[in-house]
Amino acid sequence: MTAGHRAPLLHSLRIRLPRLRWALRKLFLRNPPKGNVYYGDIAEYYDAERETKLRWQREQAAVSALLERLPQGLRVLDVPVGTGRFMEFYIQRGDRVCGLDASTSMLERARARAGNEAQGIELVEGDATALNFADGSFDLVVSVRFLRHILPFAQAKQALTEMARVCRGHAIIEIGYATGASHWPSENKPIRDQLNRDDIVALFRQHGFEVEDEVQTLTRRTRKRSVFLLRRASGDAG
Ligand SMILES: C[S@@+](CC[C@H](N)C(=O)[O-])C[C@H]1O[C@@H](n2cnc3c(N)ncnc32)[C@H](O)[C@@H]1O
Repeated sequence: MTAGHRAPLLHSLRIRLPRLRWALRKLFLRNPPKGNVYYGDIAEYYDAERETKLRWQREQAAVSALLERLPQGLRVLDVPVGTGRFMEFYIQRGDRVCGLDASTSMLERARARAGNEAQGIELVEGDATALNFADGSFDLVVSVRFLRHILPFAQAKQALTEMARVCRGHAIIEIGYATGASHWPSENKPIRDQLNRDDIVALFRQHGFEVEDEVQTLTRRTRKRSVFLLRRASGDAG
């Protein structure tokens, strides 16, 4: 094998190893919340492992399309911001963004991505279930790849309560749902795709959000994933 072959192989192994480690953990923990794994290698290779996947690209397209429906120059909270995958969209729109995440490693990647454009972008370490912002501080709250599988259901509801509290306008939230009957999730496990669409819409409504639009990013016979555009029911959504 030539040196030229070795480098891509090593790169591919380094991308896959964090996932393998996670798969091994899953053998011992049934359906565990995975909020605390986004450090070190997992953060370093987070984008490389995902950005060529169709679902990732559909999410990028969905968020971009839904952002186009909103005025520019908004005050945005992206929670959890992760590596800042939507940063370019916000910068182009002239939005003022706060990206919040629990992982310092993910925030470092987001900081590197924002680079010289970092004006108008604030990146802060924090907990989505206890946001350190005043009520109605943001025109838009964005949350992708979070409420479905990262937090246990009880905490996901708490995060949704917090998102609604700090939001005075719209939210863009990605979540999954079952196409058949709902199976109510246990409070200490992630919601995944157990609730059907009616119950997801009801959950949003209970937290003060009305559905304005939906872009599907995964369509299987038994489950779907969507990015929803929500409007704060009592807010001035402009
Ligand atoms: C799957 S990533 C999603 C990141 C980004 N939204 C995306 O779509 O790529 C999940 C993120 O949630 C963060 N996280 C986990 N628990 C959190 C919490 N309680 N508060 C804030 N961020 C949290 C992790 O650090 C990680 O960056």
